[in-house]
Amino acid sequence: MKERFMNTYARTGLVLDHGAGARLFARDGAEYIDFTAGIGVNSLGHGHPKLVAAIAAQAAKLIHVSNYFITEPAVELAYRLTEMTGFDSVFFCNSGAEANEGIFKLARKYGSSKNPDKNVIVTLKQSFHGRTITTVTATGQDKFHRFFGPFTPGFVYADPEDISALDALLEPNVCAFVFEPIQGEGGVRMISREYLHAAEKLCRERDILFCADEVQTGIGRSGAILACERLGLRPDVVAVAKGLAGGVPIGAVLARGKAADVFQPGDHGTTFGGGPLAATAALVVLSELASPGFLDEVDRKGRHLMSQIAELRHPLVKDVRGMGLMVGIGVKVDPHEVVDAARAHGLLVLTAGDDTVRLLPPLVITMADIDEGIAALKLALDDVERVHR
Ligand SMILES: Cc1ncc(COP(=O)(O)O)c(C=O)c1O
Repeated sequence: MKERFMNTYARTGLVLDHGAGARLFARDGAEYIDFTAGIGVNSLGHGHPKLVAAIAAQAAKLIHVSNYFITEPAVELAYRLTEMTGFDSVFFCNSGAEANEGIFKLARKYGSSKNPDKNVIVTLKQSFHGRTITTVTATGQDKFHRFFGPFTPGFVYADPEDISALDALLEPNVCAFVFEPIQGEGGVRMISREYLHAAEKLCRERDILFCADEVQTGIGRSGAILACERLGLRPDVVAVAKGLAGGVPIGAVLARGKAADVFQPGDHGTTFGGGPLAATAALVVLSELASPGFLDEVDRKGRHLMSQIAELRHPLVKDVRGMGLMVGIGVKVDPHEVVDAARAHGLLVLTAGDDTVRLLPPLVITMADIDEGIAALKLALDDVERVHR
């Protein structure tokens, strides 16, 4: 039967049926170690008993009511999330792109209250911010800037690491600087602390909102609740999404200080955002992340993963980099070849950029599953190497 999907994804044809922890099971019975977590979404893995039970119980009570009304899970989540991250206010939405749209609107309203021309948003080259017209515009990669023009005006791209270039770009008409602490889709590209701290300082001096897109790095992925915390950065606004509700769609814009009260009724909104089902799921995720030692374990598992891959000293591997359980392996071949070979050995991995295999395992993955996954990755790299010999 011909698929009725629009042809947007280069899919594998793998039909998945169920999962448990960091394991996925296909309809044909094949078992996989999951180093993808639904692209950084399934933070508690698959079939997490507390998450499943909480979602089922909430579904029986209320699934959706609209933002005309308040529900307890949403109020509690707003409280827990702002407490855990140190922000003052939150807006809930449904995806990473929508959270970034929230940042852009907030920043433009903030800027226009200072000066009618203060509406330019500076992002970084190699960034990725989403698939809506405006988040595609914000994405600093030419390959995304085809077909869909005209694009949203008022976006400018800075070279990561070139602070004097950023200094020149941050003119009085700029309302926000938006960055990923680690560029995910762009290739798990680390950005230096020095650059980010210098950028933060420039933003403070010029009343420009310093805004982090932590859609991929946030909510425990880096080994801290936010990667900015690990980097010692204090953004005015942050976007999170992906892992926040463990697989139920959610996004959030967190703001503090001068950015916290920019929106007034009617400025912004969304039908599904902050619904009781997603909020309930997110409360389970946050409660697990807050349990003693959880985030330290993420960091420990990430270090183990990176050191074990480095120790393979595989001829196809250029470098291994990352933070927490967000890991990039620079490879000398097309990373898609490694993805396919890994699948044949029962391991699911991702690509990022042109030369990077990306690993985003569930945050609850066990050391045993990590080790088994690395053994499969070695076999996959050997297979690819054999083909290229
Ligand atoms: C850093 C970053 N921002 C935004 C997005 C877009 O998120 P979504 O696909 O939920 O709209 C992604 C998705 O990969 C991302 O990694």
